[in-house]
Amino acid sequence: MVNEIDVQSAFRRQFDGLRPAVAAFAPGRVNLIGEHVDYNDGLVLPVAIQLGTTVVAAPLSEPVIRAFSAPFNSFVEWPSTSQRQQDAESSTAAGHTGIPAAPIQPTSAWTRYVTGVLIELARESISIPGAALYIDSDLPVAAGLSSSASLAAAVALAICQLAGKSMGAGNMAQLCRRVERDHVGVPCGIMDPFAVLLAREHHALLLDCRDEKFSHVPLPSDFELLIIDSGLPRELSRGDYAERRRECTSALSLIRDRRPNIQSYRDIRMDELLDICDALPAPLNSRVRHIITEIERTKLAAKFLGDGDLTQFGRLLDASHASLRDDFAVSLPQIDELVELVRVQPGIYGVRLTGAGFGGCIIAAVNPDTTEAIEPNVRSSYDVKHGARSQILSALAGSPARILQLS
Ligand code: GLA
Repeated sequence: MVNEIDVQSAFRRQFDGLRPAVAAFAPGRVNLIGEHVDYNDGLVLPVAIQLGTTVVAAPLSEPVIRAFSAPFNSFVEWPSTSQRQQDAESSTAAGHTGIPAAPIQPTSAWTRYVTGVLIELARESISIPGAALYIDSDLPVAAGLSSSASLAAAVALAICQLAGKSMGAGNMAQLCRRVERDHVGVPCGIMDPFAVLLAREHHALLLDCRDEKFSHVPLPSDFELLIIDSGLPRELSRGDYAERRRECTSALSLIRDRRPNIQSYRDIRMDELLDICDALPAPLNSRVRHIITEIERTKLAAKFLGDGDLTQFGRLLDASHASLRDDFAVSLPQIDELVELVRVQPGIYGVRLTGAGFGGCIIAAVNPDTTEAIEPNVRSSYDVKHGARSQILSALAGSPARILQLS
């Protein structure tokens, strides 16, 4: 987490001495296992991490939203003018105050999250006439650590606090998902906002994406999580993610044509998987094999983690990587190489690609006494060979999004 006192001082400098009124923090997340199954009614097992987005805000009497993003070094101002409110009287969603019209300056991607949150909150009758927002983050962007859900959740929490309203974490997670899907155009599942808003310190979140029920699995004391950023950025909206989603939907509809009793991937039993895959064309058969086996692995992984059986847990992480590489085809040769390199280091239980794939981060479950050797080994082989700048982050499972005390 960026030092919150520094963010408050930066807020004052940016907004001519204005006094901060609220501060909110939302973490990023890593998924331990259960990849590409959140949009297929599956189970996921993410943890919140300690890196994340901090938002400091104050109300403005003028009908304007001013926002500065420190990571993007970019300032945007939107009018929420009375003229606009008059214009909006006929439109239900825009009939509230605080909904930004077109920005005065050109937009960049982060601004769509801010406007998306303001619009979605206004639809829930939570709005403010005007506000100044200062956004800072220590999460690497496009690394698969969910910087976007973290941004949306931190802004939503800060605005709710400014408006003097509260919203349940589950509803806020749904709202953040709508922001990403409807205002930014990424057809993501529910895992990221739920992890960011509902995780618990020192625990993983076992979330059933079919009915949104969840429980917290305690992490054993001899477990350390390493996040290794491959240095290969990924871009979710680039199209690969959306293509995998389409493949999953097409495969399910072909399966339903033949077996009308199957309505969801969760209705497929392991013992019928072979027959179902045999009847599907490639590559849909492989995609289905990944989904069904990954849901099963996640169920088992949560149990082994809770029982403190890290050897079995690690084997499932390894199997998950193989499935993402061979069946779901979301890895890259360079990522596979990094995974194999880390897997042979001392004290490793298991290693896999995490997040959407096509670059980004890998994770390793590791014994805490043995982590020191890993970094120099990765630098001297992977970085040197690929001219990459990998980064190893040791991640303790952190707390969910929250309001911060102002100093
Ligand atoms: C991205 C999406 C998530 C999830 C993962 C893959 O992070 O935002 O909803 O689908 O990819 O597991």
